[in-house]
Amino acid sequence: MRALRLHEIGGPQNLRVDDVAVPPAGDGEVLVRVRAAALNHRDVFITQGLYPRIRMPVTLGSDGAGEVAALGSVVSGLAEGDEVVIDPMLAWGDDPRVWNAATATILGMPRDGTFAQYAVVPVDNVHRKPPALSMEEAAAIPLAGLTAYRALFTRGALQPGETVLITGVGGGVQTFVLLFAKWAGAHAIVTSSSDEKLERARALGADLAINYAANADWPKLLRSTGPVDLIVDSSGGDTLRKALDVVRPGGRIVIYGGTVGEASIKMFPLFWKHVSILGTSMGSPQDFAAMLRLFDDGLRPAIDRVFALDDGVDAFERLAAAHQFGKVVLTIE
Ligand SMILES: NC(=O)c1ccc[n+]([C@@H]2O[C@H](COP(=O)([O-])OP(=O)(O)OC[C@H]3O[C@@H](n4cnc5c(N)ncnc54)[C@H](OP(=O)(O)O)[C@@H]3O)[C@@H](O)[C@H]2O)c1
Repeated sequence: MRALRLHEIGGPQNLRVDDVAVPPAGDGEVLVRVRAAALNHRDVFITQGLYPRIRMPVTLGSDGAGEVAALGSVVSGLAEGDEVVIDPMLAWGDDPRVWNAATATILGMPRDGTFAQYAVVPVDNVHRKPPALSMEEAAAIPLAGLTAYRALFTRGALQPGETVLITGVGGGVQTFVLLFAKWAGAHAIVTSSSDEKLERARALGADLAINYAANADWPKLLRSTGPVDLIVDSSGGDTLRKALDVVRPGGRIVIYGGTVGEASIKMFPLFWKHVSILGTSMGSPQDFAAMLRLFDDGLRPAIDRVFALDDGVDAFERLAAAHQFGKVVLTIE
């Protein structure tokens, strides 16, 4: 089979499409013929060596959709040819509140991932594809949709009618946060460094869109627009300090990343405003199942661009340069 593999740390140019053997499905595993996959910032970080214990050569890719090609032993409930989508959160554990740090891993390093014609996945991580979605749409959902769902609902406890601030809406996860927030009947404020991305966000239902690069003092713009109940952020750095400034007394800030870097915050507004700062990562099997059900309700993920597997390096570079709005997808023939 053909697989896009990382051979050396140093960036996406060290990815190559190789011919490798189709992996066998072991006990409790499913061999999926991957038809489409999608990129996450994690994949770019791995090529740059920003993860511990990187094994090489490795097939990257956490997101994928396709058909069941073969079943290992002790697998039931699926048949060859079933159209499926993959939950990339492996071995979360028994506690829905937090993953088991001793077992939890993400598909696509250390275990070979979805940027290949075939991928082997534990049966519990294989879900039926929402019928209304194309393979590309289904592949765009898993990691980002799961992270967004848990951030917004399981951790953020978003209620209809609340106002949510989504910082850096161009990110793969944040476009799902916007999609889900509007589905849930929230008022959505978004920020981005790009006017073009803000326009796309408005088309997805954003009620107010602010360019954070052109308006360094964007918290001031929000003071006149009413209270912000919930903020979802993955940038960290200065954004967290500003988020603390704009969140209403008793409000929540949910964090799932630190793209910009470490943050230093003022202590007084944190305790005086009774603010809750909540960390989150990926999501439990329950989160994944609940998230996927939303796509039976007519929701569609935002897709930025679709590349062929052979053009995988271009796809990585688009994400590394933050040019995308929504998910960058690979089709795998
Ligand atoms: N913990 C988890 O489970 C988990 C899961 C997924 C992702 N993550 C992390 O979350 C981050 C985003 O991941 P992703 O895959 O969604 O990445 P992505 O699609 O590459 O998006 C990154 C986005 O970050 C935004 N950004 C950059 N600098 C910013 C700033 N100063 N203020 C506000 N926004 C800023 C940009 O938004 P604009 O272009 O709109 O300015 C950019 O599009 C990464 O750090 C990733 O590692 C964590």
